[in-house]
Amino acid sequence: MPPSEISLERLPRHVAIIMDGNGRWAEARGLPRNRGHLAGVESVKDVVRSVHELGMEYLTLYAFSSENWNRPDSEVAELMRLLEIYLAENLDEAEERGVRIRVMGELDRLPDSTRAAVDKAVAATRNNPGGDLIFAISYGGRAEIVDAARRLMRAAEEGTVDPDQLDEKAFAAYLYLPDVPDPDLLVRTGDECRISNFLLWQLAYAEIYTTPVMWPNFRREHLEAAIADYQSRERRFGMTSAQPETESAAAGGGRTGRR
Ligand code: FPP
Repeated sequence: MPPSEISLERLPRHVAIIMDGNGRWAEARGLPRNRGHLAGVESVKDVVRSVHELGMEYLTLYAFSSENWNRPDSEVAELMRLLEIYLAENLDEAEERGVRIRVMGELDRLPDSTRAAVDKAVAATRNNPGGDLIFAISYGGRAEIVDAARRLMRAAEEGTVDPDQLDEKAFAAYLYLPDVPDPDLLVRTGDECRISNFLLWQLAYAEIYTTPVMWPNFRREHLEAAIADYQSRERRFGMTSAQPETESAAAGGGRTGRR
């Protein structure tokens, strides 16, 4: 693949990735599926470093969906084990780079050892200023929205929220990580073109990029190709091309500075 020309001036601020194709990568090599997940960890490391070196502020990785709990027990156990190992082995590097590790999802469902590894990484990197690395774990977009609605209803019952004052910005404040700007770019690997219950609210205006590259083969050059494609697009947020860029940006900025 030839190197992609990307402008460091117009990088997406937040990239979200659906890491798909681990199982097929392994099966194509006559290997058990879990070997694909193991290989996928190398892609995670490469992409985390690349995002940091390019200077992007937010990276969200779909590491384990609510639906993934329905996979065979051995595969669920391996994914949890890999998460734990990744967090333990890469904590020093996150500290050196000043990266803040965060998580979103139904964390109560995690095994104790995974939860402990998550809590440790989050606590240790809490004050790091060098960009957010967010893992969506046991995450479902619909569950996140229902959870927000439940908490809002309770607040309304208690009288701390006025239903007549509710707008998109007020609702978004009840999502898991309300301070994080919406993704500008969604990348999905593995030759599929679905959102799969990922960040349903936050992806409203994201540019979507899909690639046939299986996740274990995904490296910086593929990320740069996605960014180059993103930079070739015009983001209008429902407006027209004739309207100046500043107006479009303002129209897209519903939560914290969406672009
Ligand atoms: C989808 O591939 C990928 C996952 C369900 C999990 C992604 C996990 C990793 C990359 C490894 C561990 C993660 C971290 C953050 C250290 P699939 O198995 O659905 O692929 P298939 O569609 O080819 O079967």
